[in-house]
Amino acid sequence: MTVTFVGHGYVGLVTAAVFADFGNTVYVVGHTEEKIEKLKKGIIPIYEPGLEELVKKNVTAKRLIFTLDFKESVSKSDIVFIAVGTPPTKTGDADLSTVLQVAEQIAQNIKGYTVVATKSTVPTGTNKKVRRILEEYKPKGTEVDYASVPEFLREGSAISDTVHPDRIVIGTESKRAQDLLVKFHSPINAPLVLTNFDTAELIKYAANSFLAMKISYANSIAKLSELLGADALKVLEGIGADKRIGNMFLSPGPGYGGSCFPKDVKALISIAKDNDYSFSLLEDVENINQQAKRDIVRKARRMLGDLRGKKIGILGLAYKANTDDMRDAPAIDIINLLQNDGAKITAYDPKAVENASQIFKNVTYAKDAYSVTDDADLLIVLTEWNEFVELDFSVIKRRMKNPNVIDGRNLYPAEKLRKAGFNYIGIGR
Ligand code: UDX
Repeated sequence: MTVTFVGHGYVGLVTAAVFADFGNTVYVVGHTEEKIEKLKKGIIPIYEPGLEELVKKNVTAKRLIFTLDFKESVSKSDIVFIAVGTPPTKTGDADLSTVLQVAEQIAQNIKGYTVVATKSTVPTGTNKKVRRILEEYKPKGTEVDYASVPEFLREGSAISDTVHPDRIVIGTESKRAQDLLVKFHSPINAPLVLTNFDTAELIKYAANSFLAMKISYANSIAKLSELLGADALKVLEGIGADKRIGNMFLSPGPGYGGSCFPKDVKALISIAKDNDYSFSLLEDVENINQQAKRDIVRKARRMLGDLRGKKIGILGLAYKANTDDMRDAPAIDIINLLQNDGAKITAYDPKAVENASQIFKNVTYAKDAYSVTDDADLLIVLTEWNEFVELDFSVIKRRMKNPNVIDGRNLYPAEKLRKAGFNYIGIGR
């Protein structure tokens, strides 16, 4: 099949590369010449394991074509996916301006029968707006159907999540569009959830908000465990073993971040409000997430007292491992709060330093994980990078001024570090 993806962020680029690899001809449309020229050379703007190789391989095979031209791509495509960003507005709603704008450009370039499918996360009801635009702007005599096909990939494991998803959701009210989309996804072995537009749109928000709720639940259990002297990791292991609960997304930490959970929880609260429903459960999920970040700073104050002039080393800046993404990373709020208290911050992250340096002022970046610990009064781990797990703490002890560790991701054996002379605090232990 020939298809187009409009947008080359995580969702657009990864999905396009994977489906090109399945043998389809895939156009990727962008709007910045410089970015498209780089993509043509296989230079990709994000860090995602395996993506650069996959893009290069399929560009060389001429199955993956980057372009600025809607006409060249859309007119030849059986399916056109909208995969542009929907960032939150000040009120927490999703900003749909780019989605609606590209819908118009797509419609104007349709030739023959085309399915337009939204992959961007959009509030329930967006389909009505997009369908109206498609009908209004499509050339006379052409036929267009609409579908909502939400994407569930995670950064850091985006390719494998796309090739092996837990389900494929296809929301459309056209049998012809459904059949075409089912055929397009046929190389993937996953259950199909076939439904209507509104339901498909809601599934994405409901799934992400549920996962955010699991994390906030784990963070609350961690807090309570600290107060009671229980071991949160055992508590969560104990509850996660129940198949009805499941053990995934129950790791307590510095709070969830990234481009999806914070924005999607906010958007679902806002969608509910617009429909006169107060989704107070999700308001608590958000509050608990904010508390998780503040709690790291409280622990630092408890360990060091006054933070003024104290040297704090931060291991990990990205919102999770295996990405360079700093969007809504817990490190942002945590470092800001520590700096407000007068702490001096040195940080290291294997991939996110370039993005981080556009956000922080007065942060010194170390060349490796050990250098962060030099003369530090406190070491705080905020991202669960593999390379942090294997650090030699006897070396760290020699390099630190005071052996204080806040392990925001519970990476290290608490007892072992305490025996080695560290003043160690994890999350919920
Ligand atoms: C998420 C969804 O998982 C994915 O389905 C959707 O398409 C996009 O949003 P992503 O943001 O890439 O994916 O990362 P994810 O692995 O879900 O982690 C999100 C945040 O939750 C991270 O900050 C992570 O550190 C945190 N997290 C995750 C926890 O704190 N504890 C956990 O147990 C799991």
